[in-house]
Amino acid sequence: MTLGTCLWGWNKTRNSLVRSNGVKPMQVFGSACGVLVDAGSDTTAAYLLSLVLTLASHPQYQQRAWQELDAVVDSDRLPELNDITRVPFVRALIDEVLRLHPPFSMALPHATRDDIQIAHLTSYSSDAITNDPNNFEDSGLFKPERFLDSKFGTFPGMDTDFRDNYAFGGGRRICPGQYSVRRLINLVTMRLIWAFEFGEARNAQTNQVIPPNSGMEAFDNELICFPLPFTCNIKPRHPEIIREKFAGALSELEKYEVNLWKGDADKMEELRKRLL
Ligand code: HEM
Repeated sequence: MTLGTCLWGWNKTRNSLVRSNGVKPMQVFGSACGVLVDAGSDTTAAYLLSLVLTLASHPQYQQRAWQELDAVVDSDRLPELNDITRVPFVRALIDEVLRLHPPFSMALPHATRDDIQIAHLTSYSSDAITNDPNNFEDSGLFKPERFLDSKFGTFPGMDTDFRDNYAFGGGRRICPGQYSVRRLINLVTMRLIWAFEFGEARNAQTNQVIPPNSGMEAFDNELICFPLPFTCNIKPRHPEIIREKFAGALSELEKYEVNLWKGDADKMEELRKRLL
């Protein structure tokens, strides 16, 4: 679809809503922007939480990702977007988190406005596709190597029409945010792994290890698939650089902090006191 067709379609929808329902154009624009925030925030947060839980419960994979990142990124800088081409294991790890825990696995049920003659797939579950044991060896296990052994993580040599993964849906209503969020996921995943060690937490009273559970039962089955609350221990690997970059980001963000909700304003003030 060209940008022209897309804008034409958007204009048509907006005009018909305004004419038929008396909705004001600004309300339509506001609601369209709200859709992007809704669609992009919980899904991204769910991916990041699944990643942290996975790292905390699979130290061997975290170790391998560090080795790869440390060989590519000097200890005096953060990973940058173009580093992703040089860290195949980290890319495999990202694909495997998205495969095993697709944040929006049931996608959106779609309806057709007109009668259709042949059956169309109007809704599907990415979970069912990417957890199918006919396509993936040990499909219920976290095994990032599968994406190194074959392009789509399926059984090696298998003839598929798979894409890299189905976490972003499929067909004409595929997630339009997928390309921008892929970049974000690549960058944030590399930075989280490079900057921190995620490990088992300990009970403050007994000092007993609390092993993080990353089995399927540790995830809820709501519309967006989040891990259930879990505890883990987070240790910075490069505290000076993290502090320096965080302080830089805080001052950069200051200009956007207008009309903050009091809780957020207090939080920002507390952060500044602690870090600057
Ligand atoms: C990890 C992050 C994300 C995941 C896993 C994800 C996944 C999905 C999925 C599975 C769908 C449904 C596709 C279908 O029904 O076939 C969808 C739709 C959508 N996504 Fe995303 N998404 C993510 C981030 C984003 C972001 C950052 C944006 C925008 C800034 C966005 C905007 C949308 C919109 C507008 C739709 C509705 C598309 C339509 O119905 O035509 N998503 N997303």
